[in-house]
Amino acid sequence: MGSSRVVVSLLLLVLAVIGFAGWVTAMNLQGEEPLPARAETLDDSAAQVKRGAYLALAGNCAGCHTARGGLAYAGGRPIETPFGTVYSSNITPDAEHGLGRWTPAHFRRAMRHGRSVDGSLLLPAFPYEQYTLLDRADLDALFVYLRSVSAVAQPTPQHALRFPYDLQVTLALWRALYFRPSAWQGDPSQSASWNRGAYLVQALGHCGACHAERNALGASRDATALGGGMIAGQPWYAPSLRAPAEAGVQTWDLDEVVALLKTGTSARGSVLGPMADVVYRSTQHLETADLRAMAEYLKALPELPVPPMAPREPAGGQMELGQRLYERHCADCHGAQGEGRPGQIPPLAGARAVILAQPANVVRTVLWGGFLPATAGNPRPFGMPPFAHQLSDEEIAAVVSYLRRSWGHRAPAVTMLDVRRYR
Ligand code: HEC
Ligand code: HEC
Ligand code: HEC
Repeated sequence: MGSSRVVVSLLLLVLAVIGFAGWVTAMNLQGEEPLPARAETLDDSAAQVKRGAYLALAGNCAGCHTARGGLAYAGGRPIETPFGTVYSSNITPDAEHGLGRWTPAHFRRAMRHGRSVDGSLLLPAFPYEQYTLLDRADLDALFVYLRSVSAVAQPTPQHALRFPYDLQVTLALWRALYFRPSAWQGDPSQSASWNRGAYLVQALGHCGACHAERNALGASRDATALGGGMIAGQPWYAPSLRAPAEAGVQTWDLDEVVALLKTGTSARGSVLGPMADVVYRSTQHLETADLRAMAEYLKALPELPVPPMAPREPAGGQMELGQRLYERHCADCHGAQGEGRPGQIPPLAGARAVILAQPANVVRTVLWGGFLPATAGNPRPFGMPPFAHQLSDEEIAAVVSYLRRSWGHRAPAVTMLDVRRYR
């Protein structure tokens, strides 16, 4: 009697495991089209290559797939994540290390479903949560373009992920829980340019890869929600595009938004850090009609309130120290009243970057300095010097707190601990 109960229990357990594995497998393969049996031929005319090149700029493929000082699209660029270092792949037409043996269908599957040519699962550091929305014509043009770039025989380094994040099973579970392949659906009640803008922002521009909130497992509930969050694995906060107090542009003029995306700076604000990179590598190259479409969509994003900031008064003496440091180190460039110099040095008075509840970006900028992106509209940008070696944690905390409490600002003061976290 007893032994048959054990057998039945074991059988049930085995069935449960098989059922669960079946669910995970089904979730990982959902929505995929079978690979076509016969070879496809794509239109590889010069016009199509040119179109693909433009789409690659809008999707910033080279930004991740080109290592610093490396050859275009040969991959090997390290990307820090909370789970370890990931290396981008070689996507040149090299037969051994790149996409040389891929068919268009393999490429579409990788982009829309996050599976490689051999069927293995790809990590979401490759933003396929957003690229899953790309339409087929664009994918085919991208593939034709990538076939046209110089082949580079360079192997992609192994990822350096911690256990258990290095296992395909872990990734399969993650995908079963969080990844849903999708297809682009326009909104017929909106204008054609709003729809174009929505597609560029949500799908190709993958703005949600940074601007969406993520949980501890690096998953966003809605990869296109744009409600703001820390960038996974990086000490930068990508503010909410849904909140005018953060990165929202609902109250800006359309031309100001276009200027920001085209030149990195505008009368209402300038870009910093990872966003400067997005402008430098991607948006500055887009046609004005596309930038206007993106601006139209961004301006129309429904507003989402940001949680109220927890108040924090400056520590004793912090404001006096901060003011002295500001006058000595910053006022020459940013002005005695934080007014900046139009077109050269951004103002600090009223600047959203200064008064965001989350102090990561302002602390990082004072520690490590930065450059506005060099763009055709702003070819020789001014730089902000780093102060990490010149000022102590206590001094950085004081000068940043001073910025956050002067000129009518009422943002929470920052502490030495905040500074240590982003140093
Ligand atoms: C934010 C960084 C990032 C961007 C932007 C990006 N990729 Fe990637 N991509 C990656 C990473 C990282 C991998 C490797 C994923 C892995 O190995 O699991 C990858 C993998 C791929 C693969 C699969 C390669 C293989 O051998 O399996 C293809 C194809 C690809 N990317 C194409 C593109 C294209 C086309 C674009 C632009 C539209 C693009 N990527 C933009 C980071 C990026
Ligand atoms: C690699 C991560 C990343 C990506 C991708 C990204 N952003 Fe950002 N973005 C940031 C960060 C970080 C900031 C905050 C720093 C700053 O103010 O520039 C920011 C700020 C902004 C701002 C506010 C700028 C200001 O002056 O207040 C806007 C608007 C914006 N992003 C739009 C976009 C759009 C549109 C896209 C897609 C085309 C995009 N971002 C893609 C990281 C990113
Ligand atoms: C040599 C001129 C110069 C000096 C000195 C300087 N800055 Fe800057 N600062 C800049 C420039 C140029 C930028 C724009 C850089 C960018 O966007 O990456 C900037 C950007 C900033 C920003 C981001 C503003 C925004 O809206 O994006 C902050 C905050 C800031 N500086 C604070 C300081 C503080 C604090 C000091 C003194 C400790 C200081 N700066 C000293 C030139 C300067």
